[in-house]
Amino acid sequence: MWLLEAIGVLPEPLLVGFWGMEASRALIAGTELGIFDALAEKPRTAPDLAADLGYDAIGTEALLNALNGFGYLRRADGQYTLSRRARRWMTSDARFSMVRPMGLYRVLWDEFGDLEDRIRHGGERDFHHPDRDAEFWRRYETGLGAAAALTAPSVAKAIPFAGTPRRVLDVGGGHGAFSAALCRRHEGLRATVLDFEPATVIGRELIAEQGMSDRVEFVAGDLLEAEWGEGFDGVLLFNLLHVFSPKQCEAILAKAHDALAPGGTVAVYDAAHKETGGNINAVGGGSELLFYAINNTRAYPEATMRDWVASAGFADLRSKHPLGMPEVLITGRRA
Ligand SMILES: C[S@@+](CC[C@H](N)C(=O)[O-])C[C@H]1O[C@@H](n2cnc3c(N)ncnc32)[C@H](O)[C@@H]1O
Repeated sequence: MWLLEAIGVLPEPLLVGFWGMEASRALIAGTELGIFDALAEKPRTAPDLAADLGYDAIGTEALLNALNGFGYLRRADGQYTLSRRARRWMTSDARFSMVRPMGLYRVLWDEFGDLEDRIRHGGERDFHHPDRDAEFWRRYETGLGAAAALTAPSVAKAIPFAGTPRRVLDVGGGHGAFSAALCRRHEGLRATVLDFEPATVIGRELIAEQGMSDRVEFVAGDLLEAEWGEGFDGVLLFNLLHVFSPKQCEAILAKAHDALAPGGTVAVYDAAHKETGGNINAVGGGSELLFYAINNTRAYPEATMRDWVASAGFADLRSKHPLGMPEVLITGRRA
């Protein structure tokens, strides 16, 4: 089979369009249903696992076989065990566990359900509406937080501060993972996360899990309306500007300027739209579609974001790509 693919005989869209869909749903279902954690405890046959978890026997076996086919489980003498890949990523206690991101991907499946209609007709969608149910906010913030934890230490390291930072404001910081990473890096630093109330409920729990509640606090509010406070040494605008219109982004940068002490650093970290010419990589193209599907928005070009930072009065602008990631980190200093 893989040989057929390698020589270009197997239609590649079949792999991505059909198997990609099956693999994605099997992985999500495997985590949602606790299959990986259960098999990490002890290998089992399909009927035993179904009986232990109280699931349908035929459905359980079908899922196990799919996960076996996609390389996440091994099967020998009817017993299923985790493959190396599954042990590395798919259990709750794995070092870089993908269990929580899978919960977020489950939410995103629903958002993509009417994609064709949305592209045909456009229309508004407010993904981050504070009235969405608690389960949405749990999946969203825990999933984002777990994904952010992979890059947060490197992003934190890349942010320049004039002196020793004491207070940072993490606007739309939700899960608090970037704040926590920054606090771990800078002794004595305290962070305030501003986000919608249901996001702060989850963020507080996640930060408590990490034993960082004395360093990271949460304030609930709509960032467009709320007072941000003042005298901060840093303001983080992480994965945030793509949620808002250009006018709102300008207003957000102006608020960041007002919230900073002289010499303070603003840090924008976001997907950057590749303006003209040339190919876009899968991460960049995928983000564009995701932002449209969930928010009706898009990633902005790096030059546009830099213009907003400069127009708000910041100097000493720098752009970096921590870990070589497609997201750009733009920093500027308040005079
Ligand atoms: C894409 S997430 C980014 C979260 C985090 N900064 C990160 O980089 O992973 C956007 C965050 O902004 C928050 N948000 C969106 N609109 C907001 C608003 N008007 N007021 C407060 N928070 C908002 C969302 O709840 C969410 O936590």
